[in-house]
Amino acid sequence: MAVNPALPAHLKAAVDTLLEGVSRKELAPRAAAISGAYRGGGGSAGAVTARDDALAYLVARLPATYAVAAAVFDQITSAAVGFAPVSLLDAGAGPGTAAVAAREVWRSLRDVTLLEPNAQFRALAEQFVPNATMIARGITGAALPQAELVIANFVLAEIAEQRATVEALWSATLDTLVLVEPGTPAGFERICAARTQLIASGAYVIGPCTHAQACPIVAPDWCHFSQRLPRSRDHLIAKDARVPFEDERYSWIAVSRQRRSAFDGQARVLTPPKEAKPGTTFRVCTAAGIEDRFIARRDRVTFARLRRAGWGDVIG
Ligand SMILES: C[S@@+](CC[C@H](N)C(=O)[O-])C[C@H]1O[C@@H](n2cnc3c(N)ncnc32)[C@H](O)[C@@H]1O
Repeated sequence: MAVNPALPAHLKAAVDTLLEGVSRKELAPRAAAISGAYRGGGGSAGAVTARDDALAYLVARLPATYAVAAAVFDQITSAAVGFAPVSLLDAGAGPGTAAVAAREVWRSLRDVTLLEPNAQFRALAEQFVPNATMIARGITGAALPQAELVIANFVLAEIAEQRATVEALWSATLDTLVLVEPGTPAGFERICAARTQLIASGAYVIGPCTHAQACPIVAPDWCHFSQRLPRSRDHLIAKDARVPFEDERYSWIAVSRQRRSAFDGQARVLTPPKEAKPGTTFRVCTAAGIEDRFIARRDRVTFARLRRAGWGDVIG
């Protein structure tokens, strides 16, 4: 299935309705402030305190966090063959971004729970994800309700107790846990630590890794991917941007209690392939470590098979 990174029509319509009559002059600096706060390591508790902040989040961040969630879920459907979850826990749901994306991918979902400590986000999530159960608290503390699919999309960055948070999320997971973070060195570090912790707890890796060996990536490199998404007029104004798209970088890990990835033992492309006259070089991650694989143009069959392979894809 090809990823559709754009907001689905029902969500876009709901966002447009909420933004009707809201002054763009007022919203643009709030949107810029929110993006700046997240980039500077600040959390939503400080950045989203009023309804207009939550509306600014819809302009500044929702399209990108949605597009990334959609891209990650798309990859999980290829790796976790036959996974058709009925229950979902979206932890740190914000306006319900990942829950909406998950419902687009897994039509099997019936029982959706959103956990969100921020009241401004909860008010939006209740509109965007009707019929969901809402829990107004943070991840750690009392046990979380269990679900087959548990997601924390761009959440770990805001929480100090990483190990306890990952442990709580894993305890709530009946099948698959998905963690997504910004594609920065710090975001990757959190993902990498969570990966090690989860493998030690008996989890099978669904992606992006095609193995459960120690991560071979060494600083200053970091494992991250990129999702292109359309930029709305409001976003162009808020970011003072010129091009009608943006590329959102992300790091992720998905693990399962139940199943192994269909891609186990294969190779994941870690960087944009380097094309040259004699052929293309793919930097890949495998169980044996990181390799540069050169595919010669004269190796016609393989070259043709990998013609469209890009950053983030799995190649045999
Ligand atoms: C950057 S927003 C991401 C929201 C949403 N998941 C998305 O993809 O658009 C981070 C979210 O994590 C939530 N959050 C922060 N600390 C949390 C905690 N301790 N437990 C649960 N959620 C938390 C914030 O309130 C906010 O909704």
